[in-house]
Amino acid sequence: MLENLIIRHRVTKKIRDYLDREGFLEIETPMLTKSTPEGARDYLVPSRINPGHFYALPQSPQIFKQILMCSGVERYFQIVKCFRDEDLRADRQPEFTQIDMEMSFVEVDDVISVVEGMLFYVFKETLGVEIDIPMERLTYHDAMERFGTDKPDLRFDLELREMEDLARQGSFKVFLNALDSGGRVKGLCGKGLAGLSRKEIDLLTEEAQSYGAKGLAWIKIKDGFESPITKFFPDGVLSEMADRLGAEQGDMMLFVADDEETTLNVLGRLRLSIAKRQNLIQNGFRFCWVVDYPLLEWDEDEGRFQAMHHPFTSPADEDIERMLEEDTIDHEGLSKLRAKAYDIVLNGYEIGGGSIRIHRPEVQKKMFELLRIAPEEAQMKFGFLLDALRFGAPPHGGIALGLDRLVMLMVGAESIRDVIAFPKTQKAVCLLSGAPSPVEEKQLRELHIKLDIIE
Ligand code: AMO
Ligand code: AMP
Repeated sequence: MLENLIIRHRVTKKIRDYLDREGFLEIETPMLTKSTPEGARDYLVPSRINPGHFYALPQSPQIFKQILMCSGVERYFQIVKCFRDEDLRADRQPEFTQIDMEMSFVEVDDVISVVEGMLFYVFKETLGVEIDIPMERLTYHDAMERFGTDKPDLRFDLELREMEDLARQGSFKVFLNALDSGGRVKGLCGKGLAGLSRKEIDLLTEEAQSYGAKGLAWIKIKDGFESPITKFFPDGVLSEMADRLGAEQGDMMLFVADDEETTLNVLGRLRLSIAKRQNLIQNGFRFCWVVDYPLLEWDEDEGRFQAMHHPFTSPADEDIERMLEEDTIDHEGLSKLRAKAYDIVLNGYEIGGGSIRIHRPEVQKKMFELLRIAPEEAQMKFGFLLDALRFGAPPHGGIALGLDRLVMLMVGAESIRDVIAFPKTQKAVCLLSGAPSPVEEKQLRELHIKLDIIE
């Protein structure tokens, strides 16, 4: 643990050195603030002086850093605590640290190149490792199609492949039905899995089902093709499937047929799980950028669009005018709008995300409209940003890197808890201090809080 904390210290030190040299100012922003739209639940702090009013701890300094850009700070950064009340996992804590950055008069390539330069310097200075820059870039679409996720682990191959054309040449109902109802059929090479017993295949199928699949179709390649479903395909098609998947003697081809989201997600997760089980993951640091995200994503439960990154993300230049023409753009058109957003991924973890922001007030207003945020609500929550944009905001953009995740990967830890002093448990409890804990009745009174709905 001490070693991890030492590396963490060096990383932040080198980041500060680098950004200082590049002309960035480290500026602190308030912790007692207002709800921001990063999409998680807020941690609230009651105000004693203003009965019934609450501060929110920042989920990120997003709006503050944009206001700083409007105020003439050209390059900002901050190594800053952020708070999100969300379900915790190995790579998520309720309080975590961002390396938060924002720059004026930049485009996507400028932000990417500052981050690449910074990471090159940090890896060199702390681990003595020279990472490859410029880093590979994938579009969101390609990442999803090839790896089934927008945080692909590139330390091994096993790419997902299109099987629709070949599936159509067979008579396997499961595949044909999925395609007929607008779904997909994709395949994956189960490297070295031809030796699995029936029972082991059942377990693998259960695993796929636990990810949401209806089933898992498989074809072993031994002396020939072995599977209950070979009878549905001509030999030539089976060979073409194997060629496309790069599957050879000793491998097992795996297929999922379902709606697009399920197909990609299940195969993406199986890809990871097979690579682990077959020891296919090589050592090293494999970075990539994922770019060209959709601007909006449809939220089925709420029956409205959500911002895929956050509501301040700029649409691609060619899409801005289309977006402003409200009457001519339909659901289909909206879901096709692209964003100037990017994520940086390391070894299958999203270690950062950002975007070029909207700097025109009319575009920001339109964005709120598309997200069904009423004008009064927009004014109440983000009025100060809309006002600032009206005063002539420079084009600007930035990114936030997850420091905990970055250091976790640098030291080879399995959880960000291993690189945080006094981390919280899965239930958001601090084991050392016992927080959170009940407080005195007197404190509650001062805060105008009555506890009568605790189940
Ligand atoms: P985003 O929400 O993508 O972007 O967060 C940026 C990065 O922060 C890390 N991260 C976390 N790490 C640990 N525990 C968590 N609960 C947690 N949540 C997020 C991830 C993630 O990539 N304001 C925007 C950035 C911007 O647009 O500039 C933002 O916060 O590594
Ligand atoms: P069945 O026709 O249900 O007996 O399934 C035959 C094979 O197809 C079994 O191996 C199932 O696991 C598999 N299977 C069923 N549904 C799917 C699906 N949606 N995608 C891929 N394989 C499936």
